[in-house]
Amino acid sequence: MENKREDIILAFHKAQEESGSNYIPIEKVKDIAKNFNVSLSEVSGLLTFYTMFSTEKRGKYIIRVCDSLSCRLMHSIDILLYIQNKLGIDEGKTTKDGLFTIERVNCLGRCFSAPNMMINDKIYGNLTPEKIDNIISEIIKEEKND
Ligand code: FES
Repeated sequence: MENKREDIILAFHKAQEESGSNYIPIEKVKDIAKNFNVSLSEVSGLLTFYTMFSTEKRGKYIIRVCDSLSCRLMHSIDILLYIQNKLGIDEGKTTKDGLFTIERVNCLGRCFSAPNMMINDKIYGNLTPEKIDNIISEIIKEEKND
């Protein structure tokens, strides 16, 4: 299993991308186990170890709010609550239109600009409610133009 780890993780990334909903369907997890000739429990263990993977459908945009020490000291909880209220969903949930999922995560490695969040691959720092409003409005605008 250890020598296949990196390739299995790559397969997870590919499967998640292909799903279009930021998740890996359980049937796909079974396929990956079969293809790499490892047990389903080993593959599942690896999958749950990495928070970037999920077997549940998630939004096109995953908003990950950092809640480690530096961000916590800069009121990350208020940021999290603000986003939850704005989108009308709790953390771990996805908006009905399938656009946004909110997750709480550990340090994003950008403590100097706390509080931080990451939306898909992009990190946003020094967050304020106004900044969040602008970021989310931009995404919604882009989506409407697509
Ligand atoms: S504590 Fe939030 S980025 Fe490090």
